Amino acid sequence: MSGPVATRIDSGKCIGCGLCVAVCPDRTICLVGDKAAICGTECLSCGHCQAVCPVGAVIVPVIAAAMDFATFKEDLHWLPWGDYDLAGLVRLMRSRRSCRNFTGQQVSREVLADLVRIGTTAPSGTNSQGWTFTILDQREAVVSFGNHVAAFFRKLNSLAANPLLRLASRLFAGDRLGSYYRSYYPTIARGLREWQEQGRDRLFHGATALMLVGGRDEAGCPAEDALLATQNILLAAHAMGLGSCLIGFAVEAIRHDPAIKGRLAIPAGESVFAVIALGYPAEKYQQVCGRKPVAPRYPKLVK
Ligand SMILES: Cc1cc2nc3c(=O)[nH]c(=O)nc-3n(C[C@H](O)[C@H](O)[C@H](O)COP(=O)(O)O)c2cc1C
Ligand code: SF4
Ligand code: SF4
Repeated sequence: MSGPVATRIDSGKCIGCGLCVAVCPDRTICLVGDKAAICGTECLSCGHCQAVCPVGAVIVPVIAAAMDFATFKEDLHWLPWGDYDLAGLVRLMRSRRSCRNFTGQQVSREVLADLVRIGTTAPSGTNSQGWTFTILDQREAVVSFGNHVAAFFRKLNSLAANPLLRLASRLFAGDRLGSYYRSYYPTIARGLREWQEQGRDRLFHGATALMLVGGRDEAGCPAEDALLATQNILLAAHAMGLGSCLIGFAVEAIRHDPAIKGRLAIPAGESVFAVIALGYPAEKYQQVCGRKPVAPRYPKLVK
């Protein structure tokens, strides 16, 4: 999101190469004679100008380059385009699997904080960085949240079990209740029974931590921003030895039951787009998994 210009240029150092002008998305910088100068009134605070300057003449004080990771040492050198082990990257992407068996080992706050920082390296619409992270880092809190999600689905299942309400939904609400009944009702009823009678956690799979990734409504694209940060977190979790699993059922419960949002102390004006179950995996695989083939389209646009 553009705001007042924070960027500062040290004209004593500037050699007038114009690189910062070329990469600035907000046309905030221009060349005046042979020196860069601020000529716009708004700035995304994206830091491209600082990152591109060959002589360190630009600083955008509102954004720090170092992210102070606690669990590993970061290399701050920018990787040139193409200068990466692509096979290794794809192997990481394909090796990340949704984990549905966690050991009871707790995830430390240092690790969780690093995951959040890694999440924030994602792009965001107009650089709003309007994402939010709510973390439950104790198994007891995960179970307590699970009880609220279970109560929501118990209510929903009892509505969906009523044929008159399903008929009304078909006539007036696009058959949403009927479609829920056909697709989810039996699995959820079984999951709820197992949760209540055997304490079996089919919702969070025994995860010891949950990360709720949300966004502030005033951000331009809060859902996209949150989900991009989420994907970074999933990949990094694998690299850190953690298992992860997205829990869409929990997102649905938070979305439709404001009381759950209140219990999680998520403020008004903020929505949750992903719930990530995290913990140390009690499962491992022998090989990577395939995907359905996809055929991209290359339309010829008519004038
Ligand atoms: C939006 C979304 C919601 C999901 N919700 C759940 C969930 O509630 N419970 C679960 O066990 N897995 C959930 N998953 C995980 C998917 O089932 C999983 O990503 C898919 O089967 C592919 O497997 P992989 O993640 O191991 O590659 C969800 C995934 C996405 C993208
Ligand atoms: S921070 Fe981004 S938008 Fe602001 S002056 Fe630098 S390049 Fe331009
Ligand atoms: S990139 Fe640095 S040296 Fe080049 S014009 Fe901008 S401030 Fe000056």
